[in-house]
Amino acid sequence: MQVAREVVLIDILEGIPQGKALDLYESGPVLGYDTRVIGTNDYKDTKDSDLVIITAGVPRKPGMSRDDLLATNADIVRNVSGEIKKSSPEATVIVVSNPLDVMTFVTKETTGFPANRVFGMAGVLDTARYRTFIAERLQVSVTDIQALVLGGHGDTMVPLVRYTTISGIPLDQFLSKDEIDGLIDRTRKGGAEIVGYLKEGSAYYAPSAAVAQMVEAVVFDRKRILPCAAWMSGEYGISDTYLGVPCKLGRDGVEEIIEVELTGDEKAALEKSAEHVKSTIEKLENL
Ligand code: 2OP
Repeated sequence: MQVAREVVLIDILEGIPQGKALDLYESGPVLGYDTRVIGTNDYKDTKDSDLVIITAGVPRKPGMSRDDLLATNADIVRNVSGEIKKSSPEATVIVVSNPLDVMTFVTKETTGFPANRVFGMAGVLDTARYRTFIAERLQVSVTDIQALVLGGHGDTMVPLVRYTTISGIPLDQFLSKDEIDGLIDRTRKGGAEIVGYLKEGSAYYAPSAAVAQMVEAVVFDRKRILPCAAWMSGEYGISDTYLGVPCKLGRDGVEEIIEVELTGDEKAALEKSAEHVKSTIEKLENL
């Protein structure tokens, strides 16, 4: 679906954004969109963007965790965020760079933008992976699976089994606890599974699809309820960190954080995930 009149790709590598943009622009006549796609190395060409997606940073290599990218990607994201602040002060920013929750924090700190306008993509991707693995295991259409994966984008993510249904039927009516645990484990390692295959680079198509869904929710003010990395100000009893939680996404970005009812164990898992993100932010601040 076409969401913009103009899309600008920016990168520090000369020629890459220009070449990719031209290639995308030339797909328009076949795919039926007339968005102007521009590639550049200069932030002035991005001036006054309404929506900015930050994917800048290095991907992990096999065996690395997302947190291993902390120092390198924090420098890159700080730089990019500083440029966005100058060139597009009114923008809504969606962060995709890893480690996701901490890079979203870096973006908010650097831009000084209000929290509703700075959030991260991860929950939609993690939920998509979880839904894929369930559909594959049950041999049912993935479109009939509703699920929510909360928490940080990493090993501590929190798939909510109680809120996972197949056309409204709870998942535990189809699978045993052990089988569900196996799918959850694969979901937690979903990004690493792809890195393991690719050796160089990380997942591309599913993260892109996930962020596109979020963009569409914002641009068309759809009020979608999607799990996003949002700034926590007491919701779920958690403050001063980014964390994956269900959000209402619309024109104003994160318009509301939805507080679903959690059991003691689910709440403890979410708190543990928040502690992990907070300790990584602290690590960054002490570098
Ligand atoms: C992933 O999970 C790159 O973090 C991203 O694939």
